[in-house]
Amino acid sequence: MNVAVIGNGGREHALCWKLAQSAKLSKLYCIPGNPGTAKHAENVAIDPMDFRKVVDWCKKNDIGLVVVGPEDPLAGGIVDALKKAGIRAFGPNQEAAQLEADKWFAKELMRQQAVPTAEAKSFTNYRIALEHVEARSPPFVIKAAGLAKGKGVTVAFRTEDAVTAINQIMKDKVFGDAGARVVIEEMLTGPEVSVLALVSGNSIYIMPPCQDHKPVDDGNTGAMTGGMGAFCPTPTLTPALMSQVERDVFIPILDGLRRDGVDYRGVLYAGLMLTHSGPRVLEFNVRFGDPETQPLMMRLKSDLLDVLNAVVDGKLDEANIEWDPRPALCVVATSKGYPGKYVSSVEIHGLEGVNDPDIQIFHSGTKRFGASTQTNGGRVLAVTAIGSTMEAARAKAYAAIGKIEFEGMHFRKDIGRVGEK
Ligand code: AMP
Ligand code: GLY
Repeated sequence: MNVAVIGNGGREHALCWKLAQSAKLSKLYCIPGNPGTAKHAENVAIDPMDFRKVVDWCKKNDIGLVVVGPEDPLAGGIVDALKKAGIRAFGPNQEAAQLEADKWFAKELMRQQAVPTAEAKSFTNYRIALEHVEARSPPFVIKAAGLAKGKGVTVAFRTEDAVTAINQIMKDKVFGDAGARVVIEEMLTGPEVSVLALVSGNSIYIMPPCQDHKPVDDGNTGAMTGGMGAFCPTPTLTPALMSQVERDVFIPILDGLRRDGVDYRGVLYAGLMLTHSGPRVLEFNVRFGDPETQPLMMRLKSDLLDVLNAVVDGKLDEANIEWDPRPALCVVATSKGYPGKYVSSVEIHGLEGVNDPDIQIFHSGTKRFGASTQTNGGRVLAVTAIGSTMEAARAKAYAAIGKIEFEGMHFRKDIGRVGEK
């Protein structure tokens, strides 16, 4: 089977790396890909948002499965466009993708289905949003309702910070149309975990739980990012809590979607906070997480193509899904300035120094420049390692990232340590 992966980040590099190991694969493509995916797939220079071009190209190249990585094409309806043309695709349709693309849609569905989440209100009127925070006491969590690359959330401990966030979203429109509506919610506290499930109609398979690290600096300080590192499994989410999450979050959300006529096929990702009164949903993503996918793929023992095909064909119950018992961890290297305005096109040194199958350097934002590799984005590399213990995986990932260097390179030193008891 010919397979095309859509996207150009570390998640897509990890998916390509794993798919390339499948015995069932004929040819692997990545649209548009990056220098990392180019090691396992043929990169195709098409804009994933140009659905007509993607569909035409898939038809010409006899693509048996399209695996959609990022949220933007899912929210834009790429799966609907592919299906209409008779092309099999892994990922939810446009209607279901609203769970991620519209935080207010997700909130309303959670309310209808009694899924535990933070109390919230939404505003499309700037003045009324301001009046809301001015009449109450902080803290507030201010969110752009639309897609903002993981950066649309501010946890404000002072009213003036909440006002600044509302100004940026609604007045300065730093997230464009994604900020036409703001959601203002209560602040929750507790450890945060990412639970990713494969979903195919009525079947749900919950993958081992992961922990992401969203703030840019050590000790979970600084601005929110798309993710600075992740590890899997996280002991924080016990088997009992996993069952609770399946029962109280995944099943009711999928029931709610089904009632509205949506047949969900793909990955559903719940970002959860484990509060004193139980797990609460912070957000849904309708795709594999980045960087959670990197450690997940390092640990997946089964053939990924078989697993994804089973989801698309409604045969998830029959799929054989096995995991390496060893933990895996990923550290993200970012460009100077990220998550704000960042420096790009800087040469990366030391990429070839690692030769251990238990360590993979997944490319997130890189590009080729002559014979060299340069930075090409905020998140640049996701250095991922698997080891007999979390500490061993950590040591390997940090030893490997220590050999890499580019001007302004930043990474957190405490991945896998936050929340340690
Ligand atoms: P989201 O994109 O909605 O997951 O938000 C990004 C990050 O903001 C989350 O990973 C949390 O760290 C934080 N966050 C979101 N909502 C809340 C909340 N209600 N209380 C506390 N922190 C939150
Ligand atoms: N790890 C967060 C995300 O994929 O959005």
